[in-house]
Amino acid sequence: MKSALILGITGQDGSYLAEQLLAEGWAVHGLVRRASMFNRSRIEHLRSTPGPGRLTLHYGDLADVTSLRRILQKEKPREIYHLAGQSHVGLSFEIPEVTCQENGTATLNLLEILRDLDHPVRLYHAASSEIFGAPATAPQDEATAAAPVNPYGCAKAFATQLGRVYRHAYGLFVCNGIAYNHESPRRGENFVTRKISLGAAHIKAGRQAEIALGNLDARRDWGWAPEYVAAMRLMLQAPAADDYILATGRACSVREFATAAFAELGLELAFEGQGPAELARRKDTGAIVLRIEPKFFRPVESTTLVGDATRAQTRLGWIPRTAGAEVARAMARADYAALTS
Ligand code: GDD
Repeated sequence: MKSALILGITGQDGSYLAEQLLAEGWAVHGLVRRASMFNRSRIEHLRSTPGPGRLTLHYGDLADVTSLRRILQKEKPREIYHLAGQSHVGLSFEIPEVTCQENGTATLNLLEILRDLDHPVRLYHAASSEIFGAPATAPQDEATAAAPVNPYGCAKAFATQLGRVYRHAYGLFVCNGIAYNHESPRRGENFVTRKISLGAAHIKAGRQAEIALGNLDARRDWGWAPEYVAAMRLMLQAPAADDYILATGRACSVREFATAAFAELGLELAFEGQGPAELARRKDTGAIVLRIEPKFFRPVESTTLVGDATRAQTRLGWIPRTAGAEVARAMARADYAALTS
């Protein structure tokens, strides 16, 4: 039975990845951190579903190098997907040290373990478009220079470059997936897309009156998480390791994303900042007010991140199909259905 280890199995991407591997009969090992609150809701359904694959969860932590080494030596996975770590960009300004330990140093620790293993292993590292910061050119590709503008991006840039160093210096099979934002109904609730889709669903269901966001003009290249997970797998099946941009190539603003999500549930949005008279008029016609709250702005913003995934398309045959407003509509539908079912 082919086996894979997923670091970050309880997250959005980890849960989709585990699903895909189990359905194909893989033995899937997942590292889970002990937490006072049970945090496995995204993979709970996989534990009870009998399928061709087999799921084994191990208590562990990326910071606990010895336990990680033991798991790798015992289970000898053929593939490792490193998706773990503090992934909220805004929060990385509040907790920069943890962010850098989990995304930077922990990746170095993992690479060092792999160097010493006596069996071959392939590693997928979840790099991020945040390594590019606020680039002057768009779209970005694999040759775009790293110039991160937040602690999260700095940690990811460090880990991405180390992945390249270990690939070249020691011949390790390490792939960096430089992924742009990818969303789904399993997205954490403090990322903007899920805040919007959940907000729309709650308002539609009469449980909430308004929503508050930060920068509405930020533009992101929003894709569909299960499609990105499929690309991760393709990377590890390729004849040689490399870095790949994973992006749809289409950018959309937070404002456009929110408008699409609300419209999907039959709701019209009015934006604070449209002027008091216009806002009052829109409210009178039943529009929902989207408030702007300074606390959701970031000290420095990556305003336009949009990627060119030509390499992934030509070498891996990966074609992302779902983007921007379509993602917003699917998430709003899913959240509303879950709330009313
Ligand atoms: N979270 C959040 N909350 N973001 C907001 C809000 C709000 O209320 N209002 C506006 N935004 C803006 C942010 O300023 C940012 O420009 C954009 O919405 C997207 O924010 P997030 O959803 O938090 O995602 P992100 O782009 O910072 O980071 C995500 O994508 C990266 C890949 O490009 C994360 O998943 C990262 O881990 C990932 O690497």
